[in-house]
Amino acid sequence: MNILIIGSGGREHSFAWKIKQSQLCDKLFIAPGNAGTASCGSNIAIGINDFEALAKFSLKNEIKLILVGPEEPLVKGIVDFFKNNEATKNIKIIGPTAEAAQLEGSKAYSKNFMQRHNIPTAGYKEFTTSNFEEGMQYIQNHSLPIVLKADGLAAGKGVLICMSVEDAKVEFELMLLQKKFGEASSKVVIEEFLQGIEMSVFALTDGKNYVLLPEAKDYKRIGEGDTGLNTGGMGAVSPVPIMNDVLKESIINKIVKPTIKGFEKDGLDYKGFVFIGLMINNNEPFVIEYNCRMGDPETEVIIPRIKNDFVEILLATANEQLDTIKIETDNRQAVATVAVSAGYPSEYKKGEIITGLMENTNNDNLLFHAGTSQNENDVITNGGRVLVAVSFAKTVREAAANSGATLQNLHFEGIYFRRDIGYEFAD
Ligand code: AMP
Ligand code: GLY
Repeated sequence: MNILIIGSGGREHSFAWKIKQSQLCDKLFIAPGNAGTASCGSNIAIGINDFEALAKFSLKNEIKLILVGPEEPLVKGIVDFFKNNEATKNIKIIGPTAEAAQLEGSKAYSKNFMQRHNIPTAGYKEFTTSNFEEGMQYIQNHSLPIVLKADGLAAGKGVLICMSVEDAKVEFELMLLQKKFGEASSKVVIEEFLQGIEMSVFALTDGKNYVLLPEAKDYKRIGEGDTGLNTGGMGAVSPVPIMNDVLKESIINKIVKPTIKGFEKDGLDYKGFVFIGLMINNNEPFVIEYNCRMGDPETEVIIPRIKNDFVEILLATANEQLDTIKIETDNRQAVATVAVSAGYPSEYKKGEIITGLMENTNNDNLLFHAGTSQNENDVITNGGRVLVAVSFAKTVREAAANSGATLQNLHFEGIYFRRDIGYEFAD
């Protein structure tokens, strides 16, 4: 069957790399893709939010299965668009409807969802301009630190952790009254600060059944030792060494099952990935956030660990047959290290020529493209996060060293990557 992947990051390159290995895949297209996805299938120059053009292309090219990578088209209703259109309603599309994608698209929606279904999370309250003064009072009486969250999508920048009441009041006012994050902060969630170790679990659901994918932990800060500005993710490890059988049972029973049951109870049409960001405190899990898609760079360490035919899993999702799938995983340690452009996550240049690129011919060391594009005979940088090197080894230390070594052999002007991914597990 012909398959279309929507997106252009490292996540989508790892999806494309895996899908291309399936006997079930005939032609593979990626919209818009990057210089790496071009070696797995055909890139097509259609934007991720141009639903009309994506539908037209899908019909013309007999696409039977669509995998949506990023959250934006999901929150904007790409699944509803295909399902509500007579001509495209039979194309299988992996992702939640716009309503279900609110789990990521609105912090208030996701907090309400967790509260309604008794899923452990930080205590919170939501505010708009209409109860602004009540919010200032709430901050006055809140324990420190105070977490402020813009309700809507804010490109990963909408969460502020304030160490003082004064600071929180200033930020709260900037968010609500000055629209610091635009429409996204017209509603603000104030919540308790959770202590502990962060990690994420990923489920794939058909709306009733689910399979649990390998867990992962990402490294969001730009600097070594988790310092400096937040980024989309500078690296990831999977498995996460703090995971154990007791914790896993607890995550499944207290969080994953009630979440999937919650979709059913709320009548949400959810056929896709659920990314659950967790804080683990004394071996007890709390949900920090839901995302309605896979993580990036988490996908790059998770997908290569899955031994199953990925297309078979996606079809079972679309056909509500996930109860027939058993996920088989490679138990070695995977570490991803991300090479970024100079200046990222602030201003950075695009168009730098990349040299030393390798093909993915070796299963212990993989290279996925993120922000790259082809410019005649050159591959050039086209984003903040440029390349993702993934290595497999017995230990975190060895895998991290190997993924760093892959990037060491590459060059573009201003290349930077962290050399300490997985540092807390490296002994
Ligand atoms: P989010 O955009 O919800 O993923 O939040 C971004 C980051 O802020 C998370 O990855 C956490 O590191 C941190 N964070 C969010 N909420 C909390 C909380 N309630 N307590 C502690 N840290 C938090
Ligand atoms: N790496 C975090 C994310 O994909 O949201």
